[in-house]
Amino acid sequence: MKNIGLKTKIVGLLGNPLEHSKSQPMQNAAFENENLDYFYLPIEVIKEDLGDVVKGISKMNFGGFNVTVPHKIEVMKYLDEIDEMASIIGSVNTVLVKDKKLIGYNTDGEGFVSSLEKETGVNCEGKTILLIGSGGACRAIAATLAYRGVEKIILTNRTKSKAEDLSNDINSKARQCCEVVDNNYDSLKEIINTCDIIINTTSVGMYPKIDASPIDTSLITKKHIVGDVTYNPDKTKLLLEAEDKGCIIVNGKGMLVNQGAKAFEIWTGVKAPVKIMENAIISK
Ligand code: ATR
Repeated sequence: MKNIGLKTKIVGLLGNPLEHSKSQPMQNAAFENENLDYFYLPIEVIKEDLGDVVKGISKMNFGGFNVTVPHKIEVMKYLDEIDEMASIIGSVNTVLVKDKKLIGYNTDGEGFVSSLEKETGVNCEGKTILLIGSGGACRAIAATLAYRGVEKIILTNRTKSKAEDLSNDINSKARQCCEVVDNNYDSLKEIINTCDIIINTTSVGMYPKIDASPIDTSLITKKHIVGDVTYNPDKTKLLLEAEDKGCIIVNGKGMLVNQGAKAFEIWTGVKAPVKIMENAIISK
């Protein structure tokens, strides 16, 4: 057990519930590996107490904290500064405490995109990407892709108005690169050949409804790289059928590690030991 002293910087995780979080072993393994006097501590907080807890953190020996469900949007009103990417995404998952000031970031999109690029060996710059969904995860990935210089993002979602809102936000706040297509077979068939990468950001296909797919998989061809932000099961129906066609596939496991790695770097200024973090999750 680590010896926690006066100089130790605490890094918290605020959310509710936190039982299934894997961030604690992952971050503590990274701090230990880099010989940093930091300690990661999960703190379950209910909505009514969030403001008080965040204020308290700014007055104590905290290096920062992560924020997870259900506080990622709510927390923003208690922060002193919000970085540009987090403000476009509209939520915060990482906070740095610097000179008693709280600065909010969002590393979720970067987590998925860097994991996709590392695992597939493909750079997103210049690519056309079909993004399925329009929720929180989709917002984070869309904003990151816009900054990564993709050629085009095509959004499709069950509720079209949400896709249109997200597209307008990206086009006006990040870069003009987003458009919306109807979420049906015929509309997708028309554009899918122009896409290099297909990413599912919805929960469709996750356990227990593992027979579901967010789009008709007959539309997918070998040239597509196919990603899914989920990882339970390891390979969703979308990924299994894409793999059968010979596509390169990637699931959401790497997103967890890479969003954490980016947060580690924000708190410490030290390059994250990604492999150590990955192993800490596997051995949990
Ligand atoms: P997260 O923060 O994980 O992205 P979210 O904000 O609740 O979660 O977003 C969930 C996304 O999955 C949405 O795009 C949602 O579509 P709607 O905007 O129409 O609600 C999509 N989604 C969830 N269940 C779905 C289903 N059964 N079929 C199609 N899309 C679904």
